[in-house]
Amino acid sequence: MTNVYAVILAAGQGTRMKSKLYKVLHPVCGKPMVEHVVDHIQTLDVERIVTIVGYGAEKVKEQLGEKSEYVLQAEQLGTAHAVQQVEPILGELEGTTIVICGDTPLIRPETMKALFEHHESNHAKATILTAIAEDPTGYGRILRSTDQQVAQIVEQKDATPEQRQVKEINTGTYCFDNKALFAALKLVKNDNAQGEYYLPDVIEILQKQGEVVAAYVTENFAETLGVNDRIALSQAEETMRARINEQHMRNGVTIINPNNTYISVDAQIGRDTVIQPGVIIEGASSIGEDCIIGPNSHIQNSRIGNRTTVHSSVVRESIIGEDTAVGPFAHIRPDSDLGDHVKIGNFVEVKKTKIDNGSKVSHLSYLGDAEVGTEVNIGCGTITVNYDGENKFKTVIEDNAFVGCNSNLVAPVTVGKGSYVAAGSTITKDIPADALAIARSRQENKDNYVTKLKLK
Ligand code: UD1
Ligand code: CA
Repeated sequence: MTNVYAVILAAGQGTRMKSKLYKVLHPVCGKPMVEHVVDHIQTLDVERIVTIVGYGAEKVKEQLGEKSEYVLQAEQLGTAHAVQQVEPILGELEGTTIVICGDTPLIRPETMKALFEHHESNHAKATILTAIAEDPTGYGRILRSTDQQVAQIVEQKDATPEQRQVKEINTGTYCFDNKALFAALKLVKNDNAQGEYYLPDVIEILQKQGEVVAAYVTENFAETLGVNDRIALSQAEETMRARINEQHMRNGVTIINPNNTYISVDAQIGRDTVIQPGVIIEGASSIGEDCIIGPNSHIQNSRIGNRTTVHSSVVRESIIGEDTAVGPFAHIRPDSDLGDHVKIGNFVEVKKTKIDNGSKVSHLSYLGDAEVGTEVNIGCGTITVNYDGENKFKTVIEDNAFVGCNSNLVAPVTVGKGSYVAAGSTITKDIPADALAIARSRQENKDNYVTKLKLK
């Protein structure tokens, strides 16, 4: 949209969060709340997005990167003062500016668009996005004159007991005629309960100047939640979670219990995949079609192919192919790459290991820094001995090898193609292709030893 700009307020510390992390960087369903806001604005295709940073400025910039321009508000003197910092960038431009708080991550782009359209069609100088709140505590209240026109916004701390009864609240999102905004900002004073320059005061200023000031009332109060403390953060998480889960279900994913399924906003899931209760999917994970993600699985930043089952397991920063089965109770640690038709059974830990198609590690094993070929069978209790206390070494297990139970493979070592490792071996030398390696002491049977012992 030409001549439309967006300003995002993100300079505050967020004292009420009682946190070392700056408020707008607190994640909601895996994404910092200010980034939700910026991403929503981006879908509107405005000409410029300017974020006002202050507390944690460097961290906020690092998080948002190229998605926004930045202006520093060195001292936090209030929301009007914050917007004033943008004057050198936007002050001279003709057009419309959308202002939105960095702590309202749930406001959908559709709602912002509706606000914008309402603003344009009313030829208003300012339009406020408002909502009707069951409990308006903490929000600025919208005061309307007898003819129902918006007259003023009064903050909770400045409101009289009667004004506090008003249920229509300021969501902190507005559309302004750009030039009118910066002209009015110069007139804002800080003679209020908090000694701050309030952006909402611009409304009263414009209204008194006889300009058209409008309000767009959204029906969805839940969407307008401002996250000031950890209680609101958990409410935002709940609303966002329901929204994400609903989207996946609409796209053909079965979620057995959406109330305890936690899917990050960046995750992708294919059709006919079933997500069982207690699952957590984090980061930009992608899961294919017809998969079963079993109870309490935790998947972080991983890619999982079609028809794969992950049962009660943890998968982090890894790739898993198609028709593969993982778990129950397996741990796939970062940088692992499992192929197609692979089987990883219970109590198996895999780290920085590539396992090629059709190979099986069915029980109680540790594979770290290893490369496993195709159709390999790793017996129960096999361990790659990859660490000498200082350095890590690699184990290579070539195609069709068969590693017997309870073997130690002391790296660096190669188990050759098609070779066998006898159960209970501690392998310290490379095994040639098609050889049998036995590395254990021979068994000795002492005949009738027990009978003699008992006779004593
Ligand atoms: C603000 C509004 C209130 C509205 C509510 C909606 C004001 C004075 N009040 O109150 O009417 O109902 O949002 O959620 O605007 N910020 C800065 N610089 C500052 C101060 C704040 O960038 O100097 C940023 C904060 O980082 C935050 C946003 O502005 O993202 C809102 O500030 P906050 O202190 O949360 O305002 P509220 O008390 O919630
Ligand atoms: Ca707020």
